[in-house]
Amino acid sequence: MLNPTWNTQTWDTARYEQQHSFVWQYGESLLDLLSPQPGEQILDLGCGTGQLTEKIAARGAIAQGIDASPAMIERAQQSYPQLRFAVADARNFQVDVPLDAVFSNAVLHWIPEAEAVITCIRQALKPGGRFVAEFGGQGNVQGIVRALEQTLVAIASPQAPNPWYFPSIGEYTTCLEQQGFTVIYAALFDRPTPLESGTAGLANWLQMFASSFLSQLSASQQQQAIRQVEQQLRPSHFQNDTWIADYRRIRVIATLA
Ligand code: BEZ
Repeated sequence: MLNPTWNTQTWDTARYEQQHSFVWQYGESLLDLLSPQPGEQILDLGCGTGQLTEKIAARGAIAQGIDASPAMIERAQQSYPQLRFAVADARNFQVDVPLDAVFSNAVLHWIPEAEAVITCIRQALKPGGRFVAEFGGQGNVQGIVRALEQTLVAIASPQAPNPWYFPSIGEYTTCLEQQGFTVIYAALFDRPTPLESGTAGLANWLQMFASSFLSQLSASQQQQAIRQVEQQLRPSHFQNDTWIADYRRIRVIATLA
């Protein structure tokens, strides 16, 4: 059984699926790195609404998904009733069957406690098991973060917590090696990411993913801050009626002896 223990941010799953489908669409290429084999036991760590869990299962693996958000898990279970999903904390989970692989797309940048996550992954894997992950790496959304921070200073907002963890390859692979993993692949690369919904794309993205920066503000101040961030980023991040987020990804494959 997976251990349901933790819940952080509340997610609007309908908006997530309608306006941010690029999250799992980009994740599909990570599946080729995972290369699920028929019959393998694979955990999708931070499965969100389950699209990639289902794609892992479609390749013949026995896939299950966990996520910290009850709303995400409820939606995943509704969409894919044939699969097993559970609410669980990536820093404190257990599995009842040893795994061939742990897969994670676009999640680990929300969890600064990398060591605790890696410990759980190590304990969940069989000897020879693999961990395949992609998330935001060092310098991810740097332009957006700078614009947000400058805007918050300009409107004299109290210091807002930055919820994101964007490690370098060196930092993250060292954590893996310290826990006995062999890192067989690691890459850090820019992936400029067009946001959905045209001119509203950046505002939607900020409201979905950067809400903790804005949480200290009233509703009207939040709108003001978003307009200022848009103004600051328009020359660099808006092209052909589309906002482009300056994503930089880290990808790793690590195996256990
Ligand atoms: C990312 O996928 O890199 C990301 C998503 C939300 C917030 C920050 C980064």
